[in-house]
Amino acid sequence: MDFPTEMKRQVARVETGLNQYLPPASTRPSRLHEAMRYSLEAGGKRLRPVLVLATADLFPASSTRSHADALPAAVAVECLHTYSLIHDDLPCMDNDDLRRGRPTAHRQFDEATALLAGDALLTHAFGLLAESYAATPALAHALIRELAEAAGSRRLIGGQMEDLLAEKKPGATAAELEFIHLNKTAAMIEASLVMGGLVGGADDATTEKLRRLGRELGLAFQIIDDVLDATADSATLGKTAGKDAKAGKATFVGVHGLDVSRRLAQQHSDQARATVQGLGGDTAFLVALIDSMASRSK
Ligand code: IPE
Ligand code: IPE
Ligand code: MG
Ligand code: MG
Ligand code: MG
Repeated sequence: MDFPTEMKRQVARVETGLNQYLPPASTRPSRLHEAMRYSLEAGGKRLRPVLVLATADLFPASSTRSHADALPAAVAVECLHTYSLIHDDLPCMDNDDLRRGRPTAHRQFDEATALLAGDALLTHAFGLLAESYAATPALAHALIRELAEAAGSRRLIGGQMEDLLAEKKPGATAAELEFIHLNKTAAMIEASLVMGGLVGGADDATTEKLRRLGRELGLAFQIIDDVLDATADSATLGKTAGKDAKAGKATFVGVHGLDVSRRLAQQHSDQARATVQGLGGDTAFLVALIDSMASRSK
């Protein structure tokens, strides 16, 4: 397995899927559909949809057992993630001007259009799951339930709420910080892995392992996001660097300092790698993906 080649192949599947499963930009009202595609097509690492595809690939279809196509689930996850970024960037939230190397949606269009494009991507994610897996209702139900839980008020939105509340209440504890990171970020990474597992037909024990992996990889991912905000430049990141400290965000760097944060990210990545290896099957790509996220520069 050559990781860069395999990553390129999986990302190419995601790009094809995004184009296939999103309404054309010319769909009325075209301004809205253009805005939806603008933020999605700007790219990004595509970590979450690639996790869906790669996890489903752990369970190869055989002559006696086939599994559903994981691509619509991967696209649904990326639509949901992109909506969360569009809203995260709004002036009432993180007030960011740059995302994925481009002006943020509300800068390129306007606030109302960005808000609506986010709303539309969120709803599209669930519609796509309902429609694409209609022939396997139990799978459709499980996927929708998983994504709803991860994206809902106890998880992604709850994490975003506490992230914003923490700006107004300096001195976050390590436990408060962990709540924010586990929910605003790890929840969707966990859901990506579990949804890939659901498509592949993972049993309950494997699903539990995927959840544990999501927790570890998700924490490592957000700690590194905090470290990069404090250490990298905006051109490399494709988003504004150095904003967390200015906004008074509760971050790992703020609470634990840079060195401890880097060490904690490494520990969570190590845990993630060990959990993947415990899954069985051909996990070489997932192991390499964890390593590439641990050493990423953007
Ligand atoms: C950004 O996610 C938001 C976080 C949870 C840190 P990514 O770093 O995955 O952003 P893209 O998708 O690559 O743009
Ligand atoms: C965002 O966390 C998490 C979600 C979008 C749910 P951040 O606010 O740290 O993400 P960036 O740094 O803007 O990408
Ligand atoms: Mg934020
Ligand atoms: Mg932000
Ligand atoms: Mg950040």
